[in-house]
Amino acid sequence: MMGSLSGSVAVVSGASSGIGAAIALRLATAGARVALVARRPDALAEVAARIPDGAVCVPADLTVTGAADDMVRRVIDECGRLDVLVNNAGEARVGPIVGADRGDWARMVDLNLEATMALSWAALPHLLDAARGPRGVADLVSVASIAGRRVQAGAGVYAATKAAVLAFSESLRQEVTARHVRVGTILPGAVRTEAAVLASRRAGRDTRDAPAPYLDVDDIAGAVEFIVTRPPRMAVNEMIVRPTEQES
Ligand SMILES: NC(=O)c1ccc[n+]([C@@H]2O[C@H](COP(=O)([O-])OP(=O)(O)OC[C@H]3O[C@@H](n4cnc5c(N)ncnc54)[C@H](OP(=O)(O)O)[C@@H]3O)[C@@H](O)[C@H]2O)c1
Repeated sequence: MMGSLSGSVAVVSGASSGIGAAIALRLATAGARVALVARRPDALAEVAARIPDGAVCVPADLTVTGAADDMVRRVIDECGRLDVLVNNAGEARVGPIVGADRGDWARMVDLNLEATMALSWAALPHLLDAARGPRGVADLVSVASIAGRRVQAGAGVYAATKAAVLAFSESLRQEVTARHVRVGTILPGAVRTEAAVLASRRAGRDTRDAPAPYLDVDDIAGAVEFIVTRPPRMAVNEMIVRPTEQES
């Protein structure tokens, strides 16, 4: 399929559902060969089946030590290069800090932060190589959250992991931007995914009388596509995308 990413290889983590699946479909439509990463093989296969040229499915639990390295190695073996990494896999286990289940915290730190750093580390040598190729740039985009910038009670540890992703990304940006690896973050507000709607209902923010505003997953996928299809001279390093009616 021809498009402005033709000839490129993109890895999308958390591509079996929600925002990640939409990003993978968008990047494939823009011409990239995509590698889909998440734990559920069946769900990955369903996403891959929606891509006319197919996709590489890499079932992996990214919280397991070494999984990110194995995954990147497999993509390089099968596709020969890596031009775009989208760190999207993440989870929000929200609730008060007082009396919280510390296992929920560990899980969010392991997936939202540690796996993002591990996958970035494993991908960077290949992104640096790709940036010296004909496209002239490579891209590393992480899906953070507006929660990482506008902190609210009840989501402290989720917000902390996303704020850490923003800090890690900005430090990495300064380190590699002169070598043409563009590092960007997206800070979505509420996006209509199964997980987000459930969490919002539990917090009493989405009721029949007062329905919460949501973006569509494709709104965020379009933002990622925008970032990775800019001309090589232009880097979009941070993008906040909220539903128009969302105040915080
Ligand atoms: N929805 C929102 O309102 C919203 C707002 C701001 C930011 N975000 C961020 O957007 C990203 C995507 O969220 P979403 O709303 O699209 O949720 P989602 O549909 O639950 O997607 C999460 C993805 O992560 C994968 N995943 C979970 N644990 C994993 C693990 N251990 N190893 C590998 N993959 C794993 C899941 O697949 P498997 O279960 O198959 O592993 C799934 O593909 C997250 O980083 C989230 O924090 C979402």
